[in-house]
Amino acid sequence: MKIFKEFYDQTAEGLRVDRFVLSNDRGVSVELLSYGAIVSSVKLPDRESGHVDVVLGFDKLKDYEENDSYIGAMVGRYANRIAGGRFTIDKTEYQLTQNEDVNHLHGGNFGLNNRIWDALHYENDEEVGVAFTTELEDGLDGYPGTLQVCVKISLNQNNQLCFDYSAQTDRSTHVNLTHHGYFNLAGRFSGSCENHYLWIDADFYTPTDAGQIPTGEFRTVENTPLDFRTPKRLGQDNAAPLGDPEGFDNNWVLNKADGELKLIAELSDHESERRLYVSTTQPGLQCYTAQYMAVEGKGDFPGYGPRAGVALESQHFPDTPNQPNFPSTLLLPSEAYHHTTIYQFDFE
Ligand code: BGC
Repeated sequence: MKIFKEFYDQTAEGLRVDRFVLSNDRGVSVELLSYGAIVSSVKLPDRESGHVDVVLGFDKLKDYEENDSYIGAMVGRYANRIAGGRFTIDKTEYQLTQNEDVNHLHGGNFGLNNRIWDALHYENDEEVGVAFTTELEDGLDGYPGTLQVCVKISLNQNNQLCFDYSAQTDRSTHVNLTHHGYFNLAGRFSGSCENHYLWIDADFYTPTDAGQIPTGEFRTVENTPLDFRTPKRLGQDNAAPLGDPEGFDNNWVLNKADGELKLIAELSDHESERRLYVSTTQPGLQCYTAQYMAVEGKGDFPGYGPRAGVALESQHFPDTPNQPNFPSTLLLPSEAYHHTTIYQFDFE
């Protein structure tokens, strides 16, 4: 296994951004950026073309800076939505940035996705990886507490891309971190992934209002388009009965979520015979089929259209700070936040 660091690009303000290239002995290579802790590429060996890149990403940093699809990025301090951008802790109400109509989305304007992280690469007998660290200041985007965040992203010989998240706060706050990669196992420029099959180990989902804020209920997936308990083609049903005729953007309540690492989803492309297995310690999975993606091509970059990739975001449920029946996202100064998610690629 190998890892090296190189200069990648400069931000619009002229700050240096590095790229880390990780590879294992089975032909898998992964690129990570110190901007947004972004996974910009995952290349798998391919019989015909030598290798194929199975995650969406850009060539130039400018595109990551200008695009609002969180492509490949780390999201937080609270991934997903918070109603009215408001929550109360110990009788104090906090008003967060309202960056999606009246609601708060993906940590606001100064979240984890669009900053330069400190990054230290390492290698040992088991893995090669990068430890990304950063600090979200007290009051940033309205959140209480200075939050120290560390995300270790590593690759091993089992073709596993592992995310190990940890965080610590000095005041009580809400934390929900996730990776926002979009996968397309047929190849990043192959077009729609509607022919991918998806399995999700979830009997329930969290229904929402028109602003995608949960009602608080857990509803069965049975007889709904959200039933992926046996593998189903992504394009077979759309979510029209649930309000979105274009695709999926929902949170599934994972079965038997008890904080232990479990296999919870499988994405497969039958034509290329490539598979992705997702394991996590988290209680929820937001699956977003990128139905509103429209990124124009530049030069020889063909761009990404609707359903160019599917995001499988392991996380806590949306709007948990305002939902007493959801597993809590409150982090106290005396506690340590920790969770693990593993994406394992199978192509052999
Ligand atoms: C959300 C979508 C949002 C997308 C990109 C996903 O996690 O669920 O509603 O459009 O992120 O911003």
